[in-house]
Amino acid sequence: MSRAAADPAGTANAEAADRSPVPEQTTEEVLVLDFGGQYSQLIARRIRECGVYSELLPATASLDSIRGRSPKGLVLSGGPASVYEPEAPPFPTALLDLDIPMLGICYGMQAMVQSLGGKVEGAESGEFGRADLILRDGGGRLLGGLPEEQACWMSHRDTVFEPPPGFQALASTPGSPVAACEAPDRGLYGIQFHPEVVHTPYGTEILTRFLRDIAGCEQQWSPESVIAEQVTRIRAQVGEGGVICGLSGGVDSSVAALLVHRAVGESLTCVFVDHGLMRMNEAEQVVEAFEQFGIPLVHVEAEERFLAKLAGVDDPETKRKIIGEEFIRVFEEEAEKLEDARYLVQGTLYSDVIESGGSDGAETIKSHHNVGGLPEDLEFDLVEPLRLLFKDEVRAVGAELGLPERLVWRQPFPGPGLAIRIVGGEVNRERLDILRAADSILQEEIRAAGLYRQLWQSFCVLPVVRSVGVQGDGRTYAYPIVIRAVTSDDAMTADWARLPYDLLERVSNRIINEVRGVNRVALDISSKPPATIEWE
Ligand code: XMP
Repeated sequence: MSRAAADPAGTANAEAADRSPVPEQTTEEVLVLDFGGQYSQLIARRIRECGVYSELLPATASLDSIRGRSPKGLVLSGGPASVYEPEAPPFPTALLDLDIPMLGICYGMQAMVQSLGGKVEGAESGEFGRADLILRDGGGRLLGGLPEEQACWMSHRDTVFEPPPGFQALASTPGSPVAACEAPDRGLYGIQFHPEVVHTPYGTEILTRFLRDIAGCEQQWSPESVIAEQVTRIRAQVGEGGVICGLSGGVDSSVAALLVHRAVGESLTCVFVDHGLMRMNEAEQVVEAFEQFGIPLVHVEAEERFLAKLAGVDDPETKRKIIGEEFIRVFEEEAEKLEDARYLVQGTLYSDVIESGGSDGAETIKSHHNVGGLPEDLEFDLVEPLRLLFKDEVRAVGAELGLPERLVWRQPFPGPGLAIRIVGGEVNRERLDILRAADSILQEEIRAAGLYRQLWQSFCVLPVVRSVGVQGDGRTYAYPIVIRAVTSDDAMTADWARLPYDLLERVSNRIINEVRGVNRVALDISSKPPATIEWE
């Protein structure tokens, strides 16, 4: 184990040590009331991209909780229900008293229209995908000045046939006589189509109009402004207390650590448990990056310990369990040595918070096969500076904080690392070295082809079987390597990436020629579902 030197020149830390007050933050926000639509998160993301902070609240959120936040606008999301179903979530009429501009999207619009006396009915056929939108009577306040004809993206069966009394119909499509409507004097707007998806070319413009022209937002929010805000919050939370952060080498824990370091300087100690299951040079990259920032880092070189525990184990879940438990043990040992550490940094993201059902408490952190997830009985208070950020915002914050590009854009990598990519057999040093060498060739070629960022993940798998080959004049009996490369938005579904043949050829040649112990390369062409991204 080595404790990395903390910035010998004492320069990198100058900013962190400066505890001068940070600028006052703009608190304007627009809330998305979530009726369960598949694009609800995306609406919040797009609003943030327009420079306005946005969060999701359940459609059932109480009037008081909404009023208490003084949002500048409300967006009612889409949802799977039909407004006539008895169980359908109702339009929250009480919100009308708040006098806050409101934009209903898809179901949000239908619920508004139905509740205020318009006509919503199930159409004979639904409207899914691209539709041609034609403005009516100039397009009103929301759509006026946009092209008379434009494309939009629809996903609905119920349809608005008449707007409520006092509303003006703004546009129609072949399947939606009233595809948008408004009552500007009451601050009420509705659109049937989805402005948040990229297939609605004027979607961002429409959202901007609502945010800027209707709700009066100043659009000052940016992931960068989060840094200043979080620095204030973290200082207020931890005071002079010691803080510990487990680094995985991934973007979330790295950015969380950098943010906390900026707030409290050397009160933060990072612990990097190197289980020996990382990819080529990865551990060195993490240690180097954190040394550059002058962040105190405990680098625990625990490969032997992990491999000893993994000897003879080939069941995937047992591997995961062993690695998870050993990780916790090592982390605890290190934490004990840092006597004054009372706070633990976690890189929980906003999507984790939403998926685990709310933004109210740390206890809801997703446990989704997260090795490196720490046990509840560790006696720390949690510091979660990324709790309100989406992944792409975390990357932007990381870049702003100076995290090296390689770490900012790193593809997701599972906690148990290469152990779950050695399939159907024991994880040992020889196999890890083969897999690491093959994987590093794949990464190098994918980066050289400019494809790295387009892929959700790309990696090699080593099935523990041997097949016959011929190399030179000799017969070989060696491992195959499987190339797995997928595109995905969120890892819930994924498609195999159509990598160019010449790239595949180069990778295959290089792996077979350069990696001893491999005589065959195969390509995984399965999507998820029914396959998973990882092989174990
Ligand atoms: P699957 O294989 O379930 O993977 O399609 C979905 C995403 O989760 C990652 N993954 C893991 N991450 N510990 C982790 O921290 C694990 O045990 C684990 N298994 C899968 C996987 O890399 C993909 O991004």
